[in-house]
Amino acid sequence: MNMAAQADSLFEYVLINYRWIFVIFFLLPLSLLFEIFNCTRNWIVFKLSSAPKQHEKKVRNIQRQIKEWRNSGANQQMCTARPGWQTMSFRQARYKSSMFNVNINMVDVLEVNVEKQYVRVEPMVTMGQLSATLAPLGWTIPVLPEIDDLTVGGLVMGTGIESSSHKFGLFQHICRNFEIALCDGSIINCSKDNDPDLFYSIPWSHGTLGFLLSVNLDIIPAEKYIKLEYEPVTSLKDACEVFKRQTYKKDNNQFIEGLMFSKDKGVIMTGNMTSQVEEHLVNPIGRWYKPWFFTHVESKFRNGSKVEYIPLRDYYHRHTKSLFWELNDIIPFGNNPLFRYLLGWMMPPKVALLKLTQTAATKKLYEQNHIIQDMLVPIERLEESILKFHNAVRVYPLWLCPFKLTPEPGLVNSRTSKDEMYVDIGVYGVPKISNFKAVESTRDIEEFVRNVKGYQMLYADTYTTREEFREMFNHSLYDKVRERFQCNRAFPEVYDKVNKNARI
Ligand SMILES: Cc1cc2nc3c(=O)[nH]c(=O)nc-3n(C[C@H](O)[C@H](O)[C@H](O)COP(=O)(O)OP(=O)(O)OC[C@H]3O[C@@H](n4cnc5c(N)ncnc54)[C@H](O)[C@@H]3O)c2cc1C
Ligand SMILES: *[C@@H]1O[C@H](CO)[C@@H](O)[C@H](O)[C@H]1NC(C)=O
Ligand SMILES: *[C@@H]1O[C@H](CO)[C@@H](O)[C@H](O)[C@H]1NC(C)=O
Ligand SMILES: *[C@@H]1O[C@H](CO)[C@@H](O)[C@H](O)[C@H]1NC(C)=O
Ligand SMILES: *[C@@H]1O[C@H](CO)[C@@H](O)[C@H](O)[C@H]1NC(C)=O
Repeated sequence: MNMAAQADSLFEYVLINYRWIFVIFFLLPLSLLFEIFNCTRNWIVFKLSSAPKQHEKKVRNIQRQIKEWRNSGANQQMCTARPGWQTMSFRQARYKSSMFNVNINMVDVLEVNVEKQYVRVEPMVTMGQLSATLAPLGWTIPVLPEIDDLTVGGLVMGTGIESSSHKFGLFQHICRNFEIALCDGSIINCSKDNDPDLFYSIPWSHGTLGFLLSVNLDIIPAEKYIKLEYEPVTSLKDACEVFKRQTYKKDNNQFIEGLMFSKDKGVIMTGNMTSQVEEHLVNPIGRWYKPWFFTHVESKFRNGSKVEYIPLRDYYHRHTKSLFWELNDIIPFGNNPLFRYLLGWMMPPKVALLKLTQTAATKKLYEQNHIIQDMLVPIERLEESILKFHNAVRVYPLWLCPFKLTPEPGLVNSRTSKDEMYVDIGVYGVPKISNFKAVESTRDIEEFVRNVKGYQMLYADTYTTREEFREMFNHSLYDKVRERFQCNRAFPEVYDKVNKNARI
């Protein structure tokens, strides 16, 4: 081996095995600067109320780009210009470089209307930004997915879910209308009353019907704390029983979430908003020196109070600091008290920066030894689903989040004439079975999910064929709308954006 190659492979070795050095000394400070810059900018823009005027200008700018595309002969299809490394999904799109990129620089909260109880936002507004804007005003959105950097556009065009979804449904169900730029350059403001076909086809469509420009989201009054109750369970039967009982409870809990730490050991959490607290039970879990949330939950097996009062935003963003448990693999000692007190205030690193600095080798390693999936299954199939995951991948903790699915038409619905209760089972980590094979194991799980009439969240790898994909997602309305707005030349189908071959 010559010197250069040796240096190269040494560099690779260090990057893979000591990635945390790089993360701590480079990525964390950079992430922090990013965050400070964004927060300051957003705060100033919101205070000056300059965003609404700018919005019209930005819309015209997008129309101009679409016109440019048409004038150029419309030979390529279009997509948003947001680079793949910036999205939360651990994958990057291949198609960005070969398509016509439309720049959507829309990052602002446009209006908070307390009277009519909605907030109008642009698509690149993040969840962290939105909760920071609304909470001080005493409001929140009913479904606030917990990772700070998730965007409204991504949650509408993909999926969004949170521990309040058993009451309010998915993120799409708190949307009142979508302002969309179509491929002929016209703007349409669709809602349940105005062009319902388009309105119901937008969620999960991944930008294949048009570009999202703004959304009106429901808001509800917020209280200052969540009273959270932890209920440890010690068998799978028990876990499913408690989980279902809490989900179906009359005038029920506002928040429900479960973490399984093994097949037979888990904690079911239920919570309500409140402003009255017992001082000694207040726990601001979001502070930098506090342990990662999932480890805190696991500690509830030990003796001690099983009730806590958590400040609202600390609760909403409880999984941000450790990216659920993904950060465990990247900064193994990140939860060590010494690290937390000294450097915890810089956490977490931006997923965008983590991805930007991945080498081909780390990516491959990740792909072969790692699984990230969210599977949405009917709640009645919860027990067998957990067993299925246990046998196929054995990854813990396992995230359980119940949600209500309505019969409204579109790519994803209850498939009956009424609301049905589902559960999101989130699997993130390194499989603990010896014969894990990324493709076969995932396909095996996908088949199971199709058979129980469930859905796969599409930010993760999907190995389904086009036919299997169409079996899982009802395309009848979507196809109709695509034809009506002549989308075929302008945009790929959802499958062509999310299947394994479309991403690296
Ligand atoms: C580490 C991690 C944690 C996660 N945690 C959660 C969670 O807690 N809760 C939850 O519900 N989900 C979670 N997800 C999944 C998440 O819901 C999806 O990734 C979702 O699509 C949002 O991602 P994003 O904001 O990065 O959007 P993107 O990935 O950028 O966008 C998703 C799709 O929408 C399209 N799109 C975006 N904006 C527009 C627009 N303006 N016009 C047209 N098309 C557009 C994009 O082209 C893309 O196809 C998580 C994912 C990861 C990787
Ligand atoms: C869209 O229509 C709704 C009423 O259905 C209205 O409240 C909203 O302001 C409109 N949005 C835009 C961008 O015109
Ligand atoms: C939340 O409120 C509901 C309805 O009042 C109640 O049944 C439930 O026990 C409460 N949960 C907690 C954790 O306080
Ligand atoms: C927890 O409390 C119970 C009863 O109060 C006691 O019997 C048990 O030993 C305690 N367990 C631990 C681990 O302290
Ligand atoms: C798909 O949705 C349409 C309505 O949009 C419905 O008529 C049809 O029955 C659905 N197909 C299946 C297989 O559920």
